[in-house]
Amino acid sequence: MASPSFQAPKGTRDILPPQSTRQRALIDLFADVVERASYGAVSTPMFEDIGVFLRLGEATDVVTKEMYDFVAKDGNHIALRPELTASVVRAFVQHRPATPWKVWYEGPQFRYERPQAGRYRQFTQVGIEALGTSDPELDVEVISLAADFYKRLGLEQVTLLLNSLGDATCRPGYLQALEGYFRDNIAELSEQSALTLDINPLRVLDSKRDQDQPLIDGAPLMVEFLTPELAEHFDQVCKGLEQLGIAYTLSPRLVRGLDYYTLTTFEFAADALDTAQNAIGGGGRYDGLAESLGGPDTPGIGFALGVDRILLACDAEDTFPAPSISPEVFVVDVSGAHVSLELTHMLREAGFTADRAWDNRSMKAQMKVSDRSEAAFAIIIGEDELAADSVTVRDLRGDSGQRLLKRTELISYLQTQLR
Ligand code: HAM
Repeated sequence: MASPSFQAPKGTRDILPPQSTRQRALIDLFADVVERASYGAVSTPMFEDIGVFLRLGEATDVVTKEMYDFVAKDGNHIALRPELTASVVRAFVQHRPATPWKVWYEGPQFRYERPQAGRYRQFTQVGIEALGTSDPELDVEVISLAADFYKRLGLEQVTLLLNSLGDATCRPGYLQALEGYFRDNIAELSEQSALTLDINPLRVLDSKRDQDQPLIDGAPLMVEFLTPELAEHFDQVCKGLEQLGIAYTLSPRLVRGLDYYTLTTFEFAADALDTAQNAIGGGGRYDGLAESLGGPDTPGIGFALGVDRILLACDAEDTFPAPSISPEVFVVDVSGAHVSLELTHMLREAGFTADRAWDNRSMKAQMKVSDRSEAAFAIIIGEDELAADSVTVRDLRGDSGQRLLKRTELISYLQTQLR
């Protein structure tokens, strides 16, 4: 066979049934979890003016290296969304809905990353954002919804890492201390991190380079610089999580890959994944983002979870299998009278899932396709059935054998068997 001329672009994947069905089931489950908490679905464009995403931070990889951007025919500088928080906050600022505004989303994101297991250039996220209140109990609600969702998927080996990144009242003092510490030890810092230090000392904490690790381990911690008020906020979040029985690990060096975060930040790690890409979700507060996009000063918090990685974690923990897509009934028609056309239509109208064979093939060939479909019942119409206005119903999974029914009795019989 000739090899195909085109393949899906590097870092992207085709998701075919049954994996696509599994992905949709995961999104449905997520919708169920968050809609119970009154989050409404929001949908924003897959591309925005690049300025929207520049708010993610001038020293972040997402902005400096990974943006899919282009100048459109009208001269506007556009970027495919690398994440949804900035887009959702842009929509909030544009429409000014009443607060608290609680929304959820799902969809593809685009980052020009170096592809590897669990890291793609197009990947799917599900997430929520809640704008309009600083109440620490909202932080707890948001984190608990992600934890509930993982639990409903059957994932057990998930660690919640928690930190507070302070805000404009105490961050400058911390950044100064951090920068001073790194400058005092600059000879030990990698060349790249020394450059990052000039732009944002916090980002140096995110370096994965071995050379930087000893220095990072000894660096001053944000939590030591929190104002009493912010320390109290963080304490309330921790207490709320404990109240709900949600285990967490304090992670004082967690800085996340985007710059808009303030106060509570968190990440979920899948311990069953032995790849470097074991972050299956993350989020936090971003109390200055709405203002930086030209809106009113509005606090916000949310998270996004990586669907592709969550499914890898489900594989590793052997949970959340793809739902069956086999039909309940399969119509085998060798009558030569096109009965399957109207019979499948009637069965579907009556609420059953139904499939059929094609091309007028032999009984043996059609039964083979029926077996492969893993349907519960085969409905067989031959010349005898046609003459008697009946069908033969064969039980393909259980042990009730087969029976001849009048066509008018078929629906009620299947209802007793399948409902
Ligand atoms: P993020 O940490 O950049 O945060 O992404 C969230 C999750 O998306 C990650 O934990 C990971 O599971 C998944 N992910 C990220 N990049 C890739 C990739 N290249 N391939 C596969 N999966 C990936 C955000 O996006 C923030 N918007 C989260 C947020 C919402 N913060 C506040 N609200």
